[in-house]
Amino acid sequence: MKVAVLGGTAGLGKSLALRFCASGFEVVIGSRVKERAEAVAEELSSSVASSRVSGALNSVAVVQAKFVFFAVPYSGLYEVARSVRNNLAEESIAVSTVVPLESDIGGSPRYLEPSAGSAAEALQQLLKSVPVVSAFNCVPADALADLNRELDVIVCGERQPSDELIGMLRRVRGTRPIYGGPLLNSRVTERLTQLLIEINRAYGVKDASVRIEGV
Ligand SMILES: NC(=O)c1ccc[n+]([C@@H]2O[C@H](COP(=O)([O-])OP(=O)(O)OC[C@H]3O[C@@H](n4cnc5c(N)ncnc54)[C@H](OP(=O)(O)O)[C@@H]3O)[C@@H](O)[C@H]2O)c1
Repeated sequence: MKVAVLGGTAGLGKSLALRFCASGFEVVIGSRVKERAEAVAEELSSSVASSRVSGALNSVAVVQAKFVFFAVPYSGLYEVARSVRNNLAEESIAVSTVVPLESDIGGSPRYLEPSAGSAAEALQQLLKSVPVVSAFNCVPADALADLNRELDVIVCGERQPSDELIGMLRRVRGTRPIYGGPLLNSRVTERLTQLLIEINRAYGVKDASVRIEGV
């Protein structure tokens, strides 16, 4: 199964690509600059034994990908979505990891509410018929890059695409997907990130995350 990670050259996207490679998926790293994607693909392929990873422009990375992870700052989401939407496979599922924060545009890390309600809902408006689910919004990149760390991943979206993503995430090393209700609930998961940033600051750490007990 092919998985594309747009913005996979740094931060959360790079950590996602690492976990997916280490779990045996075919991964295409997307970037606005082909050479940057290829360099990160080469780096991952030399660090993860028998990985299947390549790099491409975002618009090429999505071709025939079942899951397309959007791991770019909110300030670039519209441009990236527009650049890829005509190339998305009919059966693809878009996954928004995006958290709109003022810090994207030079401010403080406060939640910047999109007019659609959340970044995931904004992406759904842009992609129209391609289903969008949200996941990893409150999973820190540093925690994800530690392959030994077990992480809960809240998935919000319509039931069928969410279930398909949950099925995929069950095969990803160290992640426990949890269904968090409709896409509307991305308004909650995206906001949680602001809270985690404050907790990180208060405790001098970089990788505070959320664990759901009782399920
Ligand atoms: N970092 C975390 O711990 C974390 C946790 C949860 C959620 N998130 C969310 O995940 C997304 C990515 O966060 P990040 O910290 O990984 O971001 P980042 O490191 O700033 O950027 C990731 C990649 O996105 C691409 N990019 C940057 N600015 C862009 C723009 N204006 N337009 C299009 N592409 C752009 C870049 O790739 P190219 O230059 O190669 O195109 C970059 O390598 C954000 O929406 C963030 O809210 C992050």
